[in-house]
Amino acid sequence: MAELRILNEQIRNFFNGFRRDTHPMAILCGTVAALSTFYTDELDTNNQDHREFAARQLIAKVPTIAAWAYKYTVGEPFIYPEEELSFSENILHMLFARPGRRYSVNPVLARAIDRILMLHADHEQNASTTAVRLVGSTGANPFACVSAGIAALWGPAHGGANEAALDMFHQIGSKENIPAFLAKVKDKTSGIRLMGFGHRIYRNVDPRSKLLRTSFHEVIETLGLERDPLLDLAIELERIATEDEYFIKRKLYPNVDFYSGLILKALGIPTSMFTALFAIARTTGWVSQWLEMTKNPNGRIMRPRQIYTGEAPRSVPSMDER
Ligand SMILES: CC(C)(COP(=O)(O)OP(=O)(O)OC[C@H]1O[C@@H](n2cnc3c(N)ncnc32)[C@H](O)[C@@H]1OP(=O)(O)O)[C@@H](O)C(=O)NCCC(=O)NCCS
Repeated sequence: MAELRILNEQIRNFFNGFRRDTHPMAILCGTVAALSTFYTDELDTNNQDHREFAARQLIAKVPTIAAWAYKYTVGEPFIYPEEELSFSENILHMLFARPGRRYSVNPVLARAIDRILMLHADHEQNASTTAVRLVGSTGANPFACVSAGIAALWGPAHGGANEAALDMFHQIGSKENIPAFLAKVKDKTSGIRLMGFGHRIYRNVDPRSKLLRTSFHEVIETLGLERDPLLDLAIELERIATEDEYFIKRKLYPNVDFYSGLILKALGIPTSMFTALFAIARTTGWVSQWLEMTKNPNGRIMRPRQIYTGEAPRSVPSMDER
C-alpha cells in the first residue's frame, strides 16, 4: 500500500487550475474523481481484481492529494510520500516537511492522528457513506463514488463540523463571552447551534468522543498547551454546556467533532485541513462499503421514491369559461 501513495506526476498540473485560496475539500473532490482517468483499464466494477485495485489506490492516494492541496494553498512545495513511514507519520511528513528542512515526526502526534483516523474510518449509513453507496449503485466508477462522498462530507452538518466548531471558538473569543453565546444558541430564533454538540444517532454520549477527549488531554499535556487561550476556552465551554439544563434535557453532549478539531489544532494542523483529514479516514469506510455493495451480483440502483404532499386535484374553470 505504501508504494501506491505516490501520484502520477501529471496530477501535479491539476493543482495549478485552482485558486490559491481554494478549500482543500474542493481540490480533493475534483482530483479524486479525476484519478479515474489514470486507470481506465481497471474500472470494470464487475471485476473483483479491479475493485480491489481501486480501493487500494484510493486509500493510499487520498492522503497525498489532501496534503498537496494544503501545500498548494499555502504556497509551499509539494512533499512526496515516504514509503517507510506509517500511514499517520507520512501524513504529518507531507504536511509539515519542507525541502531543506529536516522534519522528524513526533510519535505522540502520530499516535493521536492514528486514533482520529481509526475512530473516523466508518460509521454506518452517515450522509457521505450513503452518498457513496447511492452513486455506486448506478455502476459509477469508485473514484467518482468517493468524490461524491467527499462532497457530502464537506457540509458543516457532517464533516465540516469540527472546522465549524473551531470557527465558533474563535467567534466566542474569550471565556467571559461563553454565557452570552450560549444564550444565543438557546434562542431558537437566532439559528445558531452549538457546533460539536449533538448527534443524529447518539442521543446520549458518543462513545468515540470519550476516547478523543482522553487523547485531547494527552496531547495538550504532552505539548504543554494547557495555557493556550483557545483550548482553555473550549474546555470551559464544554464544562458550562454539559452542566446546562438546555443541553442536559435534550441529551446533547460533545461529539467527536468537538474534540477532533481541538486535537488537530493542538497538533498544528491548519483548520482548513480538518475535513480533509476526516475524508482521509473515511475513505477506508467508503471503499469498504462500496466493495461490500458491488460484490453483490444482484445489486440494483438505489431509487428512493417521493411522496407528493401538495394540493389535491382541484376543479379549475377552463380558459373559455373564465
Ligand atoms: C448533529 C445534528 C445535525 C443532529 O441534528 P438532529 O438529529 O436533527 O437534532 P434535532 O434537530 O432533532 O435536535 C433535537 C433538539 O436539540 C436541539 N439541538 C440539537 N443540536 C443542537 C446544537 N448543536 N445546539 C443547540 N441545540 C441543538 C434542537 O434545536 C432540538 O431542540 P428542540 O427539541 O427544542 O426543537 C445537530 O445536533 C447539530 O446541528 N449539531 C451541531 C453540528 C455538529 O456538531 N455536527 C456533527 C455531528 S457528528
